[in-house]
Amino acid sequence: MKPAAPALDIRTALKLGITQLRAAGVPSDTLAAELLLLHATGRDRTSLYSHPEDPLTEAEAQTYFRLLEQRAAGVPTQHLTGKQEFWGMEFEVTPDVLIPRPETEHIMEVALDRLALRDLRLQHKQNILLFADIGTGSGCIACALAKEFPAAEISALDISPAALAVAQRNAARLGFSDRIHFQQSNLLAVHESLVTSHKSALFDLIASNPPYIGRREAATLAREVRDHEPEIALYGGEEGYELYADLITQSAAQLKPSGILVLELGHDSLAAVRPLFDTPDWTNIGVTNDLAGIPRVLSAQLAAQRTET
Ligand SMILES: C[S@@+](CC[C@H](N)C(=O)[O-])C[C@H]1O[C@@H](n2cnc3c(N)ncnc32)[C@H](O)[C@@H]1O
Repeated sequence: MKPAAPALDIRTALKLGITQLRAAGVPSDTLAAELLLLHATGRDRTSLYSHPEDPLTEAEAQTYFRLLEQRAAGVPTQHLTGKQEFWGMEFEVTPDVLIPRPETEHIMEVALDRLALRDLRLQHKQNILLFADIGTGSGCIACALAKEFPAAEISALDISPAALAVAQRNAARLGFSDRIHFQQSNLLAVHESLVTSHKSALFDLIASNPPYIGRREAATLAREVRDHEPEIALYGGEEGYELYADLITQSAAQLKPSGILVLELGHDSLAAVRPLFDTPDWTNIGVTNDLAGIPRVLSAQLAAQRTET
């Protein structure tokens, strides 16, 4: 009888995975192999590194090598593990939503600064704040706002029903379902008629990470993005910045006086988007760079008094 082959241990599995992903040109190969091994074995990071000699079961090894093959073929790690962290919380992600990006956390930092969180907590504890997240995707911004502002009610809008289903599951799992209200809408259209008919209040803050990549740039995108993330979440038009004008006009109509608008920008959107704020409606325009020095977030305050047009 042939002796059974020794079981693959954690350390060797990780090394094999890194080698396979590196050979396939996968970015962040070590992290990707580690995340896939954690997922296949159901372990946490500490146990992975404290017991590198532990053997994988046959089923774990099979799952791991299947995941490595898919990752090597371009499937994003987050689609294989089904999750991504944002603002200290874990979000379910599927191919129906954009994978939350670290740079989008700048939206949160700017929103917190702009709303002077500490002052609000100390002095306006009882006030209900009304927020909107336009193009909510996985619901990451809406949930992060709900976490930071326990007295806020949030409208989370998206044109994609499939994305809204994922966002709703995330809000439910994170315990925010009672304060985040999901609706299908083209930008703020669903709310517009309610505001006009006085059936709905205006917002204190509107945040949005709209699709902003230009279709003309599609060929330059990583295959993980171009071939696996939803087109509706990526492309804003041929140039990329096409949605901002409507988003800004509709926000001006649906913010309270002195309300705040916080928008994520594409890597080259600033020149096209900044002039859209050159109207008497807007004041205190701010631009925040991301860690790579790219102007990433544009924020502005609606004038305290509206100029009637
Ligand atoms: C770049 S993703 C942002 C997702 C999420 N907010 C985030 O930051 O990770 C843009 C989102 O806007 C949605 N979207 C695209 N066009 C839209 C429109 N005209 N109105 C509302 N949502 C739209 C897409 O379905 C997608 O979920």
